[in-house]
Order: sequence, then structure tokens, then C-alpha cells
Amino acid sequence: MSLDELLARERAAVDAALERLLPPADAWPARLNEAVRYAVFAGGKRVRPVLARLAYAAAGGEPSEVAEAVCGLELIHTYSLVHDDLPALDDDVLRRGRPTVHVAFDEATAVLVGDALLTAGLEVLARNPEGDGWAARRARAVALVAAAAGAAGMVGGQMEDLEATGQVVSAAGGDPEERLERIHRHKTGCLLRASVELGAVLAGVGGDEQARFAAFGERLGLAFQVADDILDATATADELGKSPGKDEAAGKLTYVTLYGLDRARAKLAELETEMVALAAELEGGEGPLGLLAHYVCRRRS
Ligand code: IPE
Ligand code: IPE
Ligand code: MG
Ligand code: MG
Ligand code: MG
Repeated sequence: MSLDELLARERAAVDAALERLLPPADAWPARLNEAVRYAVFAGGKRVRPVLARLAYAAAGGEPSEVAEAVCGLELIHTYSLVHDDLPALDDDVLRRGRPTVHVAFDEATAVLVGDALLTAGLEVLARNPEGDGWAARRARAVALVAAAAGAAGMVGGQMEDLEATGQVVSAAGGDPEERLERIHRHKTGCLLRASVELGAVLAGVGGDEQARFAAFGERLGLAFQVADDILDATATADELGKSPGKDEAAGKLTYVTLYGLDRARAKLAELETEMVALAAELEGGEGPLGLLAHYVCRRRS
């Protein structure tokens, strides 16, 4: 199967499950549900739930069993985008090819959309898959994803991103190279690593085997943000569905602003090689996780 076919099939499965999970736009509170749907059904790449499905398959499972559960990742990720775009954070007006939620609705609604998506994401993980037999795996799954999304993970990375930009008053400092890697590993890396691990955990995998999934996800998470930095500097708004050139203008610490494009691309190539080798171990040769590894490094959107 080609990468395009794989992505189309997997994204369709994710979108169908999201549709089953989210209340209709006219359900109370209608303004909030309308804005939640506006944020979620806007053409996101669905990389996190797709990774979880592929990891679940690599661990021997049938992804349709976890179709709903993995959507918890997409809901939490979408919350992070809605809040990331707020004027107090990155102040972006374009996301997934549309005006951001605070532009299309208003700032207060965008804050609440984020609150609703984060809690909905955890609820989805706590409830799915249904059935007593899944209870222990569900508990591990919620703890894994909540920890990755929280202060010691994604939110912590977002905090240091703003500190390093000078956007919040902070005494924190340190070596820029160390800071940059720490920011990227947390703000983006943690949730992507947890996505790969979630597939393993839902399949009942633990210990050293889970650690091998985590090692692949950890590199993929860093690579994803290095690619995001490169795209911010090189892609168009049409390709990205968000405004390019924002990192340099905002004074962000990124792989491109610190090292330049050539070294950022070299870092990405290095991570791609490592990921492909780790994916081949997990899948016993070339497989869908390997294709995703290439995609993350070569994507143009
Ligand atoms: C963008 O994530 C924010 C980062 C963590 C770099 P994606 O590139 O996965 O955005 P969508 O979900 O496809 O819109
Ligand atoms: C965001 O990083 C990471 C999140 C947790 C949302 P960026 O601020 O670089 O993401 P984009 O470029 O706005 O998508
Ligand atoms: Mg940001
Ligand atoms: Mg941003
Ligand atoms: Mg970015």
C-alpha cells in the first residue's frame, strides 16, 4: 500500500470515529459544540491517532477495536492548537486553512473550546474501548496521555517556548541548544511519543517492548517539530493552512532560527534514519510505521 492510500484509509477511520464521538453542532451548549466541531473538522492531518492505530497494529491488534480511544489524542491535540493560536500565546489568525477559533468566534469561546476538548479527550480515553476486560488498559492509557499532555510534558514545553521567546517575564535561562531541544521534546514530542506508546499500551504491551515503541515515538516527536520549524520558514500559507514566517518574526527559538536551514535539514535526515531502523524492528521489516516516519520528515504541510 502506498503512503497516500495508507493515510487516506487511516484518516477516514479517524474522522468517522470523531464524528461518532462529538455531539451535534446544535446540541446544548450549541455555540460551544459548533466551535468544537469547527476546530476538529477542519482538515487536520490526524497524525497522532493514526500513529496510535499503526502502533496498535504493529503490536498485533486490529485497529478498529481502538477506533474511538485513539481519538482522545486528536481532541487533546486540537485543544493545544486552539490555545496555542490565542493572542496571549502565538497570536495566529489562520489554522487548518481557516480563521482560528478566536477569530471565527471570540477569545472567550476559544478558551472554552480548549477546555472542552481537553476534558473530552480524557473522557474518551477513560471510556474506550468499552467493557470490563479493557479496564486495566484504559487506566494505563489515561495516565500515559494525561502525563504527556500536562505540565511535565506538552504544557511545560509551551511554557518554556514562551519564556525563551521573551513573551512572558521569566528568570529562566540556560544554554540555547539545550533549551531548544527541551522545548521541542516537550511541546510537541511528548504527545507524539505518547501516541505511539498508546497503541502499544492498548494492545497490552508493557516493559521493554513498550520502551521500544517509546524510543521510536520519541524520535518521531522531535523530528515532527524540526520539520514544523523548517516548514514555517519555507512553506506557503496554502500548503500549511497556517501563516508561515511567524517563528522568526516572533523571535522563537527554533531549529531554523538557531542553526539555519541546512543544519535543521541535516538533523531531520539523521532522525529519519534512526526512526526507519527502529520502525523496522517493531514491524519486522518495512511497514506502515516506517512509511509514517518518512512522511513526518518529508511532509509539505
Ligand atoms: C501542529 O501540529 C502543531 C505542532 C505540534 C507542530 P500538526 O502539524 O499535527 O497539525 P494538524 O493537526 O495537522 O493541523
Ligand atoms: C506548537 O508549536 C506545539 C503545540 C503544543 C501546539 P508551534 O507553535 O510551532 O505550532 P504551530 O506552528 O503554531 O502549529
Ligand atoms: Mg507555539
Ligand atoms: Mg503556534
Ligand atoms: Mg510552528
